[in-house]
Amino acid sequence: MQKMWQGRFSEASSELLEAFNASIEFDKELYSQDINGSKAHTKMLSKCDIIDNEAANKILEGLDQIKSEIENGEFKFNIADEDIHMAIEKRLSQIIGAEFGGKLHTARSRNDQVALDFRLFVLEANLAISKLLLNLIKTLHSIAKEHKSTLMPGFTHLQHAQPVSLSYHLLAYGFMFIRDYDRLMSSYKRNNLSPLGSCAMAGTPHPIDRDIVAKELGFSGITPNAMDSVSDRDFALELLFNISVIFTHTSRMCEELILWSSSEFGYITISDRFSTGSSIMPQKKNPDVAELIRGKTGRAYGNLISLLTTMKSLPLAYNKDMQEDKEPLFDSVKNAKNSLIILNEMIKEIKFNKENMLKACKTGHLSATDLADYLVKQKQIPFRQAHFITGKCVALAESLGKDLSELSLDELQSIEPIIDSNALELLKLESSKEARRSLGGTSDYSVDIQLNLISDFLNSNDK
Ligand code: ARG
Repeated sequence: MQKMWQGRFSEASSELLEAFNASIEFDKELYSQDINGSKAHTKMLSKCDIIDNEAANKILEGLDQIKSEIENGEFKFNIADEDIHMAIEKRLSQIIGAEFGGKLHTARSRNDQVALDFRLFVLEANLAISKLLLNLIKTLHSIAKEHKSTLMPGFTHLQHAQPVSLSYHLLAYGFMFIRDYDRLMSSYKRNNLSPLGSCAMAGTPHPIDRDIVAKELGFSGITPNAMDSVSDRDFALELLFNISVIFTHTSRMCEELILWSSSEFGYITISDRFSTGSSIMPQKKNPDVAELIRGKTGRAYGNLISLLTTMKSLPLAYNKDMQEDKEPLFDSVKNAKNSLIILNEMIKEIKFNKENMLKACKTGHLSATDLADYLVKQKQIPFRQAHFITGKCVALAESLGKDLSELSLDELQSIEPIIDSNALELLKLESSKEARRSLGGTSDYSVDIQLNLISDFLNSNDK
């Protein structure tokens, strides 16, 4: 088959080359960006009198027809066409004739064409993933509102540390996802510039108007340097990085959901709809969704490293190596979307077993810090000394098989006579939580401020 670039060749391509060189198997994903980009380009060519109206109208109609052919599954993708750009252009000439179809590629190269298509895809993905993050933040916010008085142990080193509310723990994730959202939006703003008109790498002698194309496609402006525009993929790297961080956050959340649903913890029950069974052990109910999201994190990191490595040390401007940019990005975008959708739906149906969380709070002497703080605040004992005295009280509780919060005043005074009945009130789990009124803390007062911050964020971003 005759190639579009066949002019200077006297021999046909090896079949091996055809198969190896082609990207159409995966870059067909970019068909709508390619067609929209070509339509904007055509309108600009006609406005700037580079092609006449008749040709422009025919091209626009032909492109629309191709779009519906692809969407109806009638379009024949052929490896000999190499990539989506050439496949669409070839089909265009079949439909409207080469005397018109052949004009589409005036003042354009596949280098700026692919840079445009890929950038459009990345920008759309930025918006789609940020919308999914908003949904997840909304869900966490509404669950958090209901659980200000649900006590659970806060952990460090996966050891019981201090009592916190479930709201507070969930809000920690809410704020992570808000930062993820902000990172996506800032990347979107930075990269919302049209590269079309860069051509092969040095611009064009045709009297084009790049702003017309940019406006038509909804970009906020145009990229300033053609060589940079066809040779960098940092907009894609940013998305791969941002997805990697999102996966870092979801992997931590999923790890906790897996732990919390185990019989050792028993803090939550994941609904049957989002659990799986075992082929051999009839009693099993497994948290596969959370495990898969945790597992996909590895792939997301791999995709980031893959494109970073591809781009490293490439001389300017376009190199075919860059065709390797698409599969890792498509993979990460698909996994990020699917993971965020299912995580959100799964979380909505989780049952929180408050009694088990409360029971867990009664082991591990969670109010130890409160006793030390009481000795400092009410008895003017230096913190280090207060820490030591409290440690002695903990040891006594351990030897009696009790939690620190269950010691009587007599028992506490046997360690340190200065302790009075005020301490008993402070050692209660609820008092311990409520004492932490510092900004960012776990008291209801501090949690309400955090809930309001997230409401404000949702009100200004979820439109
Ligand atoms: N399929 C190519 C890619 O994805 C399109 C650009 C080809 N440009 C070229 N000069 N061969 O990178």
